[in-house]
Amino acid sequence: MKLTQEEQEMLDGKYGEGAKIALKIQVALGDVFKAERMVPVSRTHVALSNQDADIWFAEKMVEAGAKCRVSPTVNPGFNLEYFQCITTISKKDEEQIRRTRKAYKELGATLTFDCTPYQEKNVPRFGEITAYSESSATPFINSVYGARTNRESAQSALCAAITGRTPLYGFLLDENRKGEVLVDVQAKIRNDFDYQLLGYAVPKKLKFKTPVFVNVPTNPSPAALMNLGAQLNTAGNVPMYHIVGVTPEAPTLEAAFHGEEPKKIITITQEDLEKVHEEITDPGGKIDFALFGCPHFNIDQVKQVADLVKGKQLKVKLWIMTSALTKNLATKMGLLETLQAAGGDIVDDTCMDQPCWEFLYGKKGVTDSPKCAYYTKRRNMQFVIREVDECIEACMRGEI
Ligand code: F3S
Repeated sequence: MKLTQEEQEMLDGKYGEGAKIALKIQVALGDVFKAERMVPVSRTHVALSNQDADIWFAEKMVEAGAKCRVSPTVNPGFNLEYFQCITTISKKDEEQIRRTRKAYKELGATLTFDCTPYQEKNVPRFGEITAYSESSATPFINSVYGARTNRESAQSALCAAITGRTPLYGFLLDENRKGEVLVDVQAKIRNDFDYQLLGYAVPKKLKFKTPVFVNVPTNPSPAALMNLGAQLNTAGNVPMYHIVGVTPEAPTLEAAFHGEEPKKIITITQEDLEKVHEEITDPGGKIDFALFGCPHFNIDQVKQVADLVKGKQLKVKLWIMTSALTKNLATKMGLLETLQAAGGDIVDDTCMDQPCWEFLYGKKGVTDSPKCAYYTKRRNMQFVIREVDECIEACMRGEI
């Protein structure tokens, strides 16, 4: 790989041991993907996980004196102070979250602790070269904004934040952004929830390919696009999709395929959506809780739930996970008060795949998110997956 003088100096240690290690990793990654050079990044997002390997790497970089040149927004761990008020947090888990906070603070990260920063704090413009990790983030950056990112890991994104660079390969290059498979959606896409199922169903028929959707509505909400990307990338490692008339690089079908023919055409029917729904949901029955916000809810989604529970009483506890910024907004708008009056709550800085939810292990909840159900299987949490309004009705009855 050809390096600039500054990059070579970084690799030689002129800018400190941390930057040297980070660039060394990136050069190795670039070699693997046959990148010819590095390019500057203007934005980064690190999907920290608050788990051992993540903390090990972040602390290693702190010890090496690394500081981020391009301050990354970061994913959630869990809100220690909130959960200490409602359950018991072990000493080990408390120490883990404190170490995560300390390491990323010392690295100079922007501590959003939010998995949808692309909606409110870290929003790129068309064509910007960035490095985002997090499964819902990469497709949103590529497909909705037309900015560019590879499907980074937390560690490679942190390296990019430290060096301010990324190897030029993959989805940063024009030729790799073209659509590959035409996805003809015959199923009816009625609401944001249907995009969850669509995103989960498509990788059943294609893997590691860039889909181009036709026959879907051309006015999807931000939540719909977030859902589609999150599920596509969780179920099938798809960091970019095109919706003709929505994706900036796909004003026409021809533009989406860069003037070439699709490699394949697949059809998604109503039956496909129903089948995938049946496959991923646990069966109904008595429920103990509801959990929303995987990925983190935006303010419109918080309002939707608040409107549905207004003046009602829930039989089971309901949590919405979101960013601190959105929670603050929801508080000002009176939505938090409405939710709390019904027996719900908003929790910021928190992911559902964290030990703070241990008090729900072995229990059954409702959610609108296949991703939430997928990740929590290893934590022995069961989820019935339904549309948001059906989930709320279930919360009022205590069963579904
Ligand atoms: Fe966000 Fe955690 Fe789900 S990071 S997308 S709440 S798995």
